[in-house]
Amino acid sequence: MPQNDLMEKIMSLCKRRGFIFPGSEIYGGLANSWDYGPLGHMLKQNIKAAWWKFFVQERDDMVPLDSAIIMNPKVWEASGHLQNFSDLLTECKSCHHRFRADHLLEAASAEPQYDKEPIKTIADVKCPDCGGKLTPAKSFNLMFKTFLGTTEDSSTVAYLRPETAGGMFVNFKNITTTTRRRLPFGIAQIGKNFRNEITPGNFIFRTREFEIGEFEYFINPNPPAGGWEKVFEMWLGEIKRWWKEVMQVNMDNLVWHEIPDGVRAHYSKRTVDIEYKYPFGVKELHGIAYRTDFDLKRHQEVSGADLTCTDPETNEKFLPHVIEPTFGIDRMLLVALLEAYHEEAAPTAEKGEMETRVVMKFPKHLAPVQVAILPLSKKEDLAKVAKPLADELRKSFWVEYDETQSIGKRYRRQDEIGTPYCVTVDFKTLEDKKVTVRDRDTMQQERIAIAELQDYLLAKFK
Ligand code: GAP
Repeated sequence: MPQNDLMEKIMSLCKRRGFIFPGSEIYGGLANSWDYGPLGHMLKQNIKAAWWKFFVQERDDMVPLDSAIIMNPKVWEASGHLQNFSDLLTECKSCHHRFRADHLLEAASAEPQYDKEPIKTIADVKCPDCGGKLTPAKSFNLMFKTFLGTTEDSSTVAYLRPETAGGMFVNFKNITTTTRRRLPFGIAQIGKNFRNEITPGNFIFRTREFEIGEFEYFINPNPPAGGWEKVFEMWLGEIKRWWKEVMQVNMDNLVWHEIPDGVRAHYSKRTVDIEYKYPFGVKELHGIAYRTDFDLKRHQEVSGADLTCTDPETNEKFLPHVIEPTFGIDRMLLVALLEAYHEEAAPTAEKGEMETRVVMKFPKHLAPVQVAILPLSKKEDLAKVAKPLADELRKSFWVEYDETQSIGKRYRRQDEIGTPYCVTVDFKTLEDKKVTVRDRDTMQQERIAIAELQDYLLAKFK
């Protein structure tokens, strides 16, 4: 399938089935804003819950946090966001469309040059929309500005956070004091972030409002064995395990991009961008960086608070260093959709003729609906069995009850939303107290006694 078709198909499925809707649609929409519908919300919840379980709950060296979105502006002065969190903006002098200069340069360099000199500056590039001349690139700060209270002046300026990391650093002392944690340990949080992107796009890949799950893992810069390199490798290994075992992606679709010296942020001794082969190109999915003591040092300088720890061996004070794995939740969800989408030839339920079925093969624990209860007809006799069964299963699973349309159409709908198990209640059920369980991926059907159904399904989701 051509790769651009795949994005089109996924966006159409998301809208049609209620995963993701265009934002503010009845008002004509708001460009590049998206609302997660019932299934999208559940898929996102499941990804966040799995992330939380894997990186926080199952470890004894992580603590959770939920810090404010609007913080004292000094936080952003200390982190460097006020001064440096900018992209280079250029505008077409003819059509006045605006672009990120680095994106245009990257795209222009990717085009074959043959006999031409390599592109060097934005002056060598033409507007991709109308071919017009572009203005020199200028810096554009990506933070969303707002005002606190009723007066709009410089004393009331505040910003919506562009990342969750700031909250972890400003609470470092509070957390070490209240939890009595010793290094190494991490602080994790998931939350909304806001960036006034110049060129949002590619569906939910780049938006102005998005969620990040990230953690700051604090270490002693002079640990007795291994050093930061060993901790970094440990987290890289965990990240690989996350993609393989929990997200269950095809590992060939991931690219581990070691950021070379000179391109990394000046304070980082090692950064790896985890990239994905999206239909629109190989681009960043998430990252991990060793940020040394840059953040705590800056917050200590600007706030005046003592953020040091005491080495239990030497009694010397030192500033912890930090390794920061960071994950875009919406990009992970996009990857889950891309990996799950399958089209395959399958026989229809009624006549056995071959047709194309679209099936979202989500890992079972991420599927938005886990079990569908499908009585063969709307007759009351069947509902009397099927409804209490659905209510019972709801205590353990996300269940959808559907009694409309032909069974074939209902199977196709459940395939398209990725429901791992469909349970059919038919007239034979009234006699033998058994139901038919259909497996999403194999389409195999099994007759299971109602009394054993709950345990049967629980075992499948283990
Ligand atoms: N604290 C580090 C940090 O914020 P980042 O690379 O700027 O790092 C983290 O952002 C992650 O957030 C990215 O790797 C990406 O997954 C996601 N992300 C960044 N900008 C985004 C946007 N405009 N839309 C959706 N996700 C975005």
